[in-house]
Amino acid sequence: MLTGCAREKKELPKEELLVGFSQLGSESGWRLSNTDSITAAAEKAGVHLMMNNANQSQEKQIKALRSFIAYQVDVIAFSPIVEDGWDSVLREAKESGIPVIVEDRMVNVKDESLYATHIGSDFYDEGVRAGKYLLKKLEHLGPDVSLRVVELAGTTDSSPTLGRAAGFRDTIAGEERITILDSIDGDFLISRGTECMATLLDRYQNEIDVVYIHNDAMMYGALQSIENHGLVPGKDVIIISVDGEQRAIDLLKEGRINCVVECTPLLGDIIMAAAADLIAGKQLPKEIYSREEVYTEFDDLSKIAARGY
Ligand code: AHR
Repeated sequence: MLTGCAREKKELPKEELLVGFSQLGSESGWRLSNTDSITAAAEKAGVHLMMNNANQSQEKQIKALRSFIAYQVDVIAFSPIVEDGWDSVLREAKESGIPVIVEDRMVNVKDESLYATHIGSDFYDEGVRAGKYLLKKLEHLGPDVSLRVVELAGTTDSSPTLGRAAGFRDTIAGEERITILDSIDGDFLISRGTECMATLLDRYQNEIDVVYIHNDAMMYGALQSIENHGLVPGKDVIIISVDGEQRAIDLLKEGRINCVVECTPLLGDIIMAAAADLIAGKQLPKEIYSREEVYTEFDDLSKIAARGY
């Protein structure tokens, strides 16, 4: 169902921009912050927002985009649950003259002119940062140490999962003392983090040295299983997470995790500015990446500002 569309477009003041935004779901705290950021930014910018939440269904997202097209919104923005399968609906948007902003996750389409810009994170680079931290950790542990890694990956075929997996693997590839034992799809959910971690601990007993986890939500879940197994997270098992929510930074400061790669959900202002630019006829860069950091046990953590998510 579309929400926030109580006013008919024809009744809107001419200068008010109408943006249709399809959010992919509510799977994590990160996602809720992303939705809040978009809603708050629209309100601040005086943009009328038609918001739809697809509850993790690509079919529902495609339906939402089609309803935005039928409604003739000025700009469509959406965070695609997976990379493939968007060509037809984006062609329909293009044929209707509606510019599309791809938000957060990326699409894989044959014709790049089907969207105006992608605004979000460089997920491959996030994986590289996670890998670089692990290489540094290995160096600190000394020449006789080798590390066995398990991965709790996000939703299969989604761009953060693909990028974070590839960047990490490419970075550690030359290091023979690091081995990836296994990788499980935890769908970015806290509950799956608990389940998948328990499965991996049962499967590998005490062989796991490192857990590389594709988001903070799954990491919170995994910590429970690690502790239930009698292990001390951050000490018996090295933990790398991605997102950088306040709670994750607090866990890092407590020494219960070892590294957090930042991925910011606070994209609302830049999305609203981009929508206004597109309507003003401005050409935007095809890729607009957020500037992001990595926080590790080797850093001075006292200087990290409040996260805001
Ligand atoms: O697409 C961004 C990812 O999706 C975030 O890392 C995760 O927390 C969210 O669910």
